[in-house]
Amino acid sequence: MEAWFIIVVSLCVCVLIRGIFFSLHTKAKTFPTPPGPLNIPFISSLLWIRKSFAELEPILRALLAKHGPIVTLHIGPRPAIFIADRALAHQALIQNGVVFSDRPKALAASKILSSNQHNISSAAYGATWRTLRRNLTSEMLHPSRARSFSGIRKWVLDTLLTRLKSESETSHSVRVVDHFQYAMFCLLVFMCFGERLHDDIVRDIERVQRQLLLGFSRFNVLNFWPSVTRFLLRKRWEELMRFRKEQEDVLVPLIRARKEKNLKQENGLKLNPNDDVVVSYVDTLLDLELPEEKRKLSEDEIVTLCNEFLNAGTDTTSTALQWIMANLVKYPHVQEKLVEEITRVLGEKVGEKREVKEEDLQKLPYLKAVILEGLRRHPPGHFVLPHAVSEDVVFNDYLVPKNGTVNFMVAEMGWDPKVWEDPMAFKPERFLNDEGFDITGSKEIKMMPFGAGRRICPGYTLALLHLEYFVANLVWNFEWKIPEGGDVDLSEKQEFTMVMKNALQVHLSPRI
Ligand code: HEM
Repeated sequence: MEAWFIIVVSLCVCVLIRGIFFSLHTKAKTFPTPPGPLNIPFISSLLWIRKSFAELEPILRALLAKHGPIVTLHIGPRPAIFIADRALAHQALIQNGVVFSDRPKALAASKILSSNQHNISSAAYGATWRTLRRNLTSEMLHPSRARSFSGIRKWVLDTLLTRLKSESETSHSVRVVDHFQYAMFCLLVFMCFGERLHDDIVRDIERVQRQLLLGFSRFNVLNFWPSVTRFLLRKRWEELMRFRKEQEDVLVPLIRARKEKNLKQENGLKLNPNDDVVVSYVDTLLDLELPEEKRKLSEDEIVTLCNEFLNAGTDTTSTALQWIMANLVKYPHVQEKLVEEITRVLGEKVGEKREVKEEDLQKLPYLKAVILEGLRRHPPGHFVLPHAVSEDVVFNDYLVPKNGTVNFMVAEMGWDPKVWEDPMAFKPERFLNDEGFDITGSKEIKMMPFGAGRRICPGYTLALLHLEYFVANLVWNFEWKIPEGGDVDLSEKQEFTMVMKNALQVHLSPRI
């Protein structure tokens, strides 16, 4: 075929495709963005930027009552769209998942903490995200791999029970949240680095992780007008860089140790006697290659991915665990019903060590209902991570612009009185009627504590396993009661997750 003919046809195709995109684009541009308060450039941003998502929640509720289930706020340099309606969430995340599964472009401070979007939660919807996510799900969270860590779960449980027992012997009232956080941390640190690390090192990792995590909202402000904040908030920028450096100082030696161990193993050399032979998250990352960039991950990126793994798996789970135990203390009849179920299935086991094994969990429907009710009533995140659309789209007769963020209001959906009768009450029974509740929301979203669609939390099965295993064993080993003169206050406070404003204090008495 003549070259000129191919060139002319190619040009025509290009013009046609451009024409189609342009017309879609201009069509989208004729629709308004979802309604919201008046946007006065710069002033509105300044107004909203100082507010945490928790402070925004009541304001959003008022806006939703006025404007309907989808509203816009102009926070910082880009519009933020909020969706509170579960059917709209399903339409966006499941039915139009390809378009709604992107993440916003990282701003200045987030770029540093995410190694320029080289982690699962912040990566754009594309090949890098797919590779990193597939690595986590198939190499770490696959049921057979998750099973290889059951020994460590038992060890962490025993340590937790011992600590609670010894504290309950000397104190009438035990503050449990620190114990829960430490237990989840030990578990995830082992999965990440494949070693039972010395207590001091685990505490050190916990320190560097938590100082970045709790500084999250303070550092967020650095994202906006970085050229100005670098000057006006110089001290905060320095603090962020120092925290990141401290994190690298603690995590890099552990990553290098793993690299050395793997090299030894490959070369058939003798390992240290305390080297556990499990595949850790770091091992999988050291082997990984990024398809688009055709290279292995840098040390900085591995630090970022370990940071994500530890944060995603510890704080969320220990927060949920505290909320669930708080409800079991506040409502003793639920606790007793749970203990009755365990006793009925496992027998009395008086005088022996009482352990609900992982394989027993499948036989405990009321336990599963308690966990689901805990996640519905107290989702650790009241919003999923901000999403973005891959192109300007018209959604529910509004323009959702490519440069904006799309936020889904998890707590609102789980508390919707149209779906959940008496939604603020803690009633696990509501999950017993369902033929196995679908937490992924693929057919219909009734609640979405783990999100829904392509960006759904990849760790949800592991999270459920951890919650079921720990809740079952905690109530089977101790009776959990309100200390004399105390109370269980279910008020919330926003940290990285939505935690109890007044930490749970309990009186524990061994059941044996
Ligand atoms: C109770 C515990 C947990 C809760 C409530 C939770 C909740 C969530 C939510 C709401 C999202 C955002 C979904 C979205 O943006 O649409 C998310 C994302 C994520 N979670 Fe979890 N999570 C938990 C435990 C875990 C665990 C144990 C891991 C792994 C060890 C994990 C790893 C992740 C990752 C990597 C993402 C990013 C997914 C992506 O962007 O593709 N999470 N989680």
